[in-house]
Amino acid sequence: MFMNQPEVVMIGLGYIGLPTAALIAQTKTHVHGVDINPKVVETINQGKIHIVEPELDTAVENAVKNGFLLASTKPVSANNYLVVVPTPFKSKNEPDISFVEAATHSIIPLLKEGDLYIIESTSPIGTTEKMRDLIYSQRPELIDKLFIAYCPERVLPGNVMYELVHNDRVIGGIDDKSTRKAIDFYKQFIKGDLHSTNARTAEMCKLVENSSRDVQIAFANELSLICDKADINVWELIDLANKHPRVNILQPGCGVGGHCIAVDPYFIVADYPMESQIIGKAREINNYKSFWCAEKVQTAKLEFELNKNRKPSIAIMGLAFKPNIDDLRESPAKYIAQKVLQNANNEQYYIVEPNIESHNVFKLTDYKLAADKADIIVFLVAHDEFKTLEINENSIGFLRNP
Ligand SMILES: NC(=O)c1ccc[n+]([C@@H]2O[C@H](COP(=O)([O-])OP(=O)(O)OC[C@H]3O[C@@H](n4cnc5c(N)ncnc54)[C@H](O)[C@@H]3O)[C@@H](O)[C@H]2O)c1
Repeated sequence: MFMNQPEVVMIGLGYIGLPTAALIAQTKTHVHGVDINPKVVETINQGKIHIVEPELDTAVENAVKNGFLLASTKPVSANNYLVVVPTPFKSKNEPDISFVEAATHSIIPLLKEGDLYIIESTSPIGTTEKMRDLIYSQRPELIDKLFIAYCPERVLPGNVMYELVHNDRVIGGIDDKSTRKAIDFYKQFIKGDLHSTNARTAEMCKLVENSSRDVQIAFANELSLICDKADINVWELIDLANKHPRVNILQPGCGVGGHCIAVDPYFIVADYPMESQIIGKAREINNYKSFWCAEKVQTAKLEFELNKNRKPSIAIMGLAFKPNIDDLRESPAKYIAQKVLQNANNEQYYIVEPNIESHNVFKLTDYKLAADKADIIVFLVAHDEFKTLEINENSIGFLRNP
């Protein structure tokens, strides 16, 4: 326990909450971190971390050692409360804000006049107002006496400790005084510009940033499907089109994955299905691209069998959702590997993911061995390791590089 009341309570000590807690603690501010997972709490209180993120280990070790960060499964009274819990989607691609609600419930009894409550979790439009109504329904004596705001996070995993400090932030309160109060709070830790707006715009801003990426990638993926049918090299085509001074087409791939770009657009589509035609269609196109890739592998297998009169061996290169990481969340490569294996018919398969040691579903093979042994090599993720591999005549690449 801190000797005095902490200034900040951080609810959710995952990929975003823990680095943010450590950053705030670095400024000699007492942070009380809360997580419902007792293992997470125990690890942090030992000065260690439970996630992989460069420079986070020393930041947490110092924060805990110097007494500015303490973790617990229960919140305590403070002046500032930050909610950084997961916001996944349920079946039918609808956002699940139950974690945000649970986190809010846990602090409602602790709130007092003048406190600042901020949601950082990626959230559907209107979530901050919903939480305001929830809080005030249980504490009507606090109506208009709290500061309530939304401030989304936009860091890149792998570079979080730098980006947390230097990225610009969008901050939207439920009223102007909340926005100003939240900006004053973040000013203490953040060097990037702080842009003020209202809560709904800030919520939408986060969703739009990722939807914009998704739509642009869908355009490139759609081109790759058209070019395949039209017998045009899509990479050459995009290079040439991008010579236009105002055209900048992204690169196609085997789909879109991860817990942000592949998820956040659904938060808009679920609430505004009629209005979000392009955003919804982009999600469909990017999902379809993964299905199409799996079908391509199936065709290559059958063609090999027909031509060589034997079953091929197949290497699936990469499972992660993007190059050089170990994160398989919503990964199109993982989906393709599963789909290909569902169609297996006594072929030999080598599943490769150099960034993880083992997997509970896939038996993993060393990437060099797999590339050496396989008749058909399917490149799904542009991991650095794959760039030096020799490719054979039957290789299939859904990526420019390798
Ligand atoms: N990871 C990213 O790169 C990233 C980037 C931008 C935005 N976000 C958003 O930030 C939010 C958090 O993401 P994350 O990656 O840090 O998630 P995470 O799963 O890594 O961490 C969330 C933590 O919250 C804890 N938790 C859940 N319910 C709780 C509760 N009621 N009380 C206390 N703790 C609770 C979990 O045990 C977990 O440790 C999400 O909305 C996500 O979409 C994440």
